[in-house]
Amino acid sequence: MAARSIPLSSPDITSEERRLVDEVLSSGQLSFGPVLEAFENEFAAKFGARHAVAMSSGTAALHVAMIAAGVSDGDVVITTPFSFVASANSILFERGIPHFVDIDPVTLTMDPAATVHAIETLAPQGRLRAVLPVHIFGRTVEMDGILAAARRNGVAVIEDACEAIGASADGVFAGRWGDASAFGFYPNKQMTTGEGGMLITDRDDWARLARSLRNQGRSDSGSWLAHDRLGFNYRMGTISAAIGLAQIRRLDELVQKREAVALRYNELLAGIDGVSPLPPARAGSRLSWFVYMVRLDEGIDREQLQAALAASGVASRPYFPAIHLQPFYRERFGFAPGMFPHTEAASTSLLALPFHGNLAADDIGYVCEAIAVAIRDVLAQRS
Ligand SMILES: Cc1ncc(COP(=O)(O)O)c(C=O)c1O
Repeated sequence: MAARSIPLSSPDITSEERRLVDEVLSSGQLSFGPVLEAFENEFAAKFGARHAVAMSSGTAALHVAMIAAGVSDGDVVITTPFSFVASANSILFERGIPHFVDIDPVTLTMDPAATVHAIETLAPQGRLRAVLPVHIFGRTVEMDGILAAARRNGVAVIEDACEAIGASADGVFAGRWGDASAFGFYPNKQMTTGEGGMLITDRDDWARLARSLRNQGRSDSGSWLAHDRLGFNYRMGTISAAIGLAQIRRLDELVQKREAVALRYNELLAGIDGVSPLPPARAGSRLSWFVYMVRLDEGIDREQLQAALAASGVASRPYFPAIHLQPFYRERFGFAPGMFPHTEAASTSLLALPFHGNLAADDIGYVCEAIAVAIRDVLAQRS
């Protein structure tokens, strides 16, 4: 095979994104203004939400949602240890305590029955403030039981939909179940603004608070230098909003293109020993492909496979290291290996392959061929 260089991800930018960015540059209005408002309004309309508040990142949206939910010193928030560290960090920002629930080994999302059990057990103790389900890899958490238990116990539900824009279950978009939801627009996401994020909510009071918090705690009196509360600079710039406006208009196309690439991978990988595609979305749900992950059979050394792929110019990455085993979580909360076995099994056996909507069929074939050859070599060295 001729050597190539196939990156892990690549944003899908067209002349329309460039045109809107150019308009913003020409307007001179690089912060706030009509393009930011249009992005927020079209985003809210796409999801049928009353409010969309653009943020500087998905992490910022999660942090603001935690504040809106009232999380503060010593409050408990139920979440998953199998996620990007930002989801649990948002709890720590407000000095809350994450209560991790292990994942279902097949869906890789929070085990719904275990989550309901945790809500019912912790709520009577008085410190449970919120549940933070994460729709990991664009796969929706089974929300019905979790929502019912949270409502019964007066606990807020904040969805981390940073990896799941466009995913749905029973006709409801990810991000539309909770009191508020966070989306992320980092360049490897289904849609991007460069850096950026969005908080959506139907609650007028939370949207008002989010607009104040992202802008240094300003009051909504209209006075520019009146600050009602401690806030942050979590604003999204208008250049980013222009990219986002073009991308939200293209969201269905972006999601479909990624799905086509994922299905092609599924087909080609089906015939290769040692790796398995993840199972399809659960019944009634549609996943929105964020990354393309494979599960490695026991006995396939992930680092060795990665090294062989890298030698063929194919990028790959293990996703996600378990949050509870990150050094500062272990130090602070006393977490140790063995506490969340399904998360630990997933985090040691999954590998992300190059993935984006414009990945050419020829490149997908090249990646799969490189995997087949590398696995043959890894297995041959073992025997
Ligand atoms: C599950 C999850 N939560 C939160 C975030 C944070 O988003 P951002 O990188 O925009 O702050 C990400 C993105 O990387 C993510 O994947």
